[in-house]
Amino acid sequence: MDVERIVGPELPEEERAFDAALRPKRLEEFVGQDRIKEQLALLIEGARARGEPLDHVLFSGPPGLGKTTLAGIVANELGVGFQPTSGPALDRPGDLAAILTNLEEGDVLFVDEIHRMPRAVEEVLYPALEDFKLDVMLGKGPSARSIRLDLPRFTLVGATTRPGRITLPLRERFGFSPRLEYYGVEDLARIVRRSAGILEVEIDEEGALEIARRSRGTPRVANRLLRRVRDVAEVRHDGRITAEVARAGLELFDVDDRGLDRLDLAVLEAVVHKFGGGPVGLSTLAAAVGEETDTVEDVVEPYLMQLGFLARTPRGRVATDRALRHLGVTPDGALPLA
Ligand SMILES: Nc1ncnc2c1ncn2[C@@H]1O[C@H](COP(=O)(O)OP(=O)(O)OP(=O)(O)O)[C@@H](O)[C@H]1O
Ligand SMILES: [Mg+2]
Repeated sequence: MDVERIVGPELPEEERAFDAALRPKRLEEFVGQDRIKEQLALLIEGARARGEPLDHVLFSGPPGLGKTTLAGIVANELGVGFQPTSGPALDRPGDLAAILTNLEEGDVLFVDEIHRMPRAVEEVLYPALEDFKLDVMLGKGPSARSIRLDLPRFTLVGATTRPGRITLPLRERFGFSPRLEYYGVEDLARIVRRSAGILEVEIDEEGALEIARRSRGTPRVANRLLRRVRDVAEVRHDGRITAEVARAGLELFDVDDRGLDRLDLAVLEAVVHKFGGGPVGLSTLAAAVGEETDTVEDVVEPYLMQLGFLARTPRGRVATDRALRHLGVTPDGALPLA
């Protein structure tokens, strides 16, 4: 299905610069997630005071909530190097060994999508995380032997949308594993105002709230919607974003009043209309809307569940009465009487 996503993680080239400009660099610029920020600040201060590397950290949560941003902030606050890679990029143990041996003392090694790291690579990581050692095999066959290399002491920061897919031995090696939650409207409005300031766009309080309400609890979405609304404000109005301008802009881009985009609605409508409200299995549902199962599970489902529109049962996903009302359908499936 050719649905333009407002939450997809892959960024087109032009959006990357925009993203970099808006990404907070320090903990105090990072809006919301107050408890996680407080805990992180404490851990960072402790590590700095002792002159030791920070404990390994795992950030989990749905896409666009700030995992990569926080990883960068950790390195900035510690004043150390930031070496980014990702689970799928670490194809063979040698890929990881090359990165590990190039780290500097105290560096942050950031592994995005860490749940997609191959098992053989993961095994190289264990001694590195625990004792800062790397086991290297020399030669092959009967004359092969292994040697242990010392690594610089570093901090692994992992990010994942799927903490459940991380093996127990790896999970246990993280000292701090916070889960990021969807943001409330007030925090999102603060993010929108902050971004508008950086982009030098004029926006009033109501305009910011209108965008915030439709941002699926997600800062990345808030920033994308802001950019689209800004275009509408500049092309069709005097450049200033008011509630009215925001509403008109968001309708133009098919974002409804709960922030659902076309794929969210397609999934919800499929459950209700094609599968009689459910229960329906995840892969059947994904096939019905022509999307990858992972996308439906990581991106669409968590938000629909957060809104109380979708529930998980042992036999599959079911639409709630609240979802039916949102779609304008009465619980027995009939269209409501006017
Ligand atoms: N708390 C926040 N305050 C301000 N801006 C934020 C915050 N969290 C995220 N952002 C903005 O949202 C964008 C997306 O955040 P980020 O890339 O860190 O998300 P992510 O959790 O790593 O997503 P993914 O799972 O897709 O990799 C960033 O460019 C940043 O500008
Ligand atoms: Mg990320």
